Amino acid sequence: MKICCIGAGYVGGPTMAMIAHKCADHTVTVVDINQARIDAWNSDELPVYEPGLDEVVQAARGSNLFFSTDVDTAIREAEIIFISVNTPTKTYGVGAGCAADLRFIEKCARKIAEVSEGDKIVVEKSTLPVRTAESIKRILLANSEGRDFQILSNPEFLAEGTAIADLQNPDRVLVGGDQTPAGLAAIQKLVDVYAGWVPRERILTTNVWSSELSKLTANAFLAQRISSINAISALCEATEANVDEVANAIGTDSRIGPKFLKSSVGFGGSCFQKDILNLVYLCRHFGLPEVADYWQGVITMNDYQKHRFARRVVSTLFNTVSDKKIAVLGFAFKKDTNDTRESAAIYICRDLIEEQAKLAIYDPKVSEAQIRQDLKVTEENPYVTICEDAYAATKDAHAVLILTEWDEFKALDFKKIYDQMQLPAFLFDGRNLLDLEQLAAIGFEARGIGQG
Ligand code: NAD
Ligand code: UDX
Repeated sequence: MKICCIGAGYVGGPTMAMIAHKCADHTVTVVDINQARIDAWNSDELPVYEPGLDEVVQAARGSNLFFSTDVDTAIREAEIIFISVNTPTKTYGVGAGCAADLRFIEKCARKIAEVSEGDKIVVEKSTLPVRTAESIKRILLANSEGRDFQILSNPEFLAEGTAIADLQNPDRVLVGGDQTPAGLAAIQKLVDVYAGWVPRERILTTNVWSSELSKLTANAFLAQRISSINAISALCEATEANVDEVANAIGTDSRIGPKFLKSSVGFGGSCFQKDILNLVYLCRHFGLPEVADYWQGVITMNDYQKHRFARRVVSTLFNTVSDKKIAVLGFAFKKDTNDTRESAAIYICRDLIEEQAKLAIYDPKVSEAQIRQDLKVTEENPYVTICEDAYAATKDAHAVLILTEWDEFKALDFKKIYDQMQLPAFLFDGRNLLDLEQLAAIGFEARGIGQG
């Protein structure tokens, strides 16, 4: 079977590479309008950094996995077409700052209608507002001239940094479709693809609306756990309780569970905020303001946590960071990814630049160009320097901020760092990654999140 995926991003690339790798009988072509991205997928320097991704791509690329900008041919030849394009928060017009921007989705639907010659199964892989399948179907059928289109929802639950492990061994795969004979047959076709490596009992099938809404709901629940523990972290700091101890104590209750209770500088990434805003917008649209307000609280708490961290740095450094060098270790939104979308580091750096701090930033995987773009600063800007390593960033610094939980930060020589810093040497661990007592023994004034 021929499979096409429109959108060669963080989801389309790894997901399709895994399908190709696991299903040698299928030919998978990933297409994108971004030539540079496709060139990178065809090179040794993939556009996405993910542990294990290189191996999976290399195993299948050129045999049954292809990356191309020839969108029309790939659509025409495919039986199943995944749509995995970006669905960012709208920045203009009605719903700006809240609703999902579906213009890329609509362009894909119109392109599929335009170039398809036979029946197609169109799969929503992008995260979409519930009932988007209806719009896609109307566009396709209005232009179908006798061809049949089945729309399936197959949201992706991979997390960046662990994408390959998540794809290889997913908790579940979700496929939603019309509950008609043709819809059920389409569902079965997609289920058969995943059954190539995923145990059948982990492949859930639902109606299309449940599947679309389950994705937004899953992300809202996950983010809600982080905001809940972050809210408690503020109370811990006021009361000498320790948030990691609290998280452990509540997480051993099997009804609560231990995962996603790590207090932090706030959640980032391209999904959580965007998807909750989308949920909030949908709730308002359907006349449910109380439900909208409930979920909005998750975002409000996350914003509070990011700004609270920056304010704490300023107040601890004698209420001024003006002209003080501050080392920022980590810029990605989590470890093991080069992705910075909505990273908490962006907001914390911006707050500190506003206070005229001189930032020296180091991240193992994020490029200088990306950091400058995110902070909207040029190379001439005196407030931002990008460093080659953590030691260069911390030289003569007044404070060190840990903003991403990269493993290599645990192995740093903190005595060496302390010896080259201004005194008193402050360290703010925004990920509760380090042993604060050991740091204090070296001489640091070390603070974590929610640590009394
Ligand atoms: P991305 O921005 O990395 O990639 C999207 C790609 O689509 C881009 O390369 C873009 O050029 C391409 N594109 C846009 N319009 C196109 C068109 N008309 N024709 C061809 N290509 C087009 O986005 P992503 O992170 O891969 O996310 C894609 C979707 O998956 C989003 O809806 C997102 O919410 C969802 N999702 C993302 C993650 C994640 O961890 N990043 C996880 C689960 C779900
Ligand atoms: C998330 C969902 O986990 C995934 O299922 C979905 O498909 C896409 O969105 P992702 O954003 O890639 O994945 O990473 P995730 O591991 O969820 O982390 C998101 C943010 O929350 C990161 O900034 C991370 O550092 C933060 N986080 C996560 C915490 O602060 N504490 C935690 O306990 C867990």
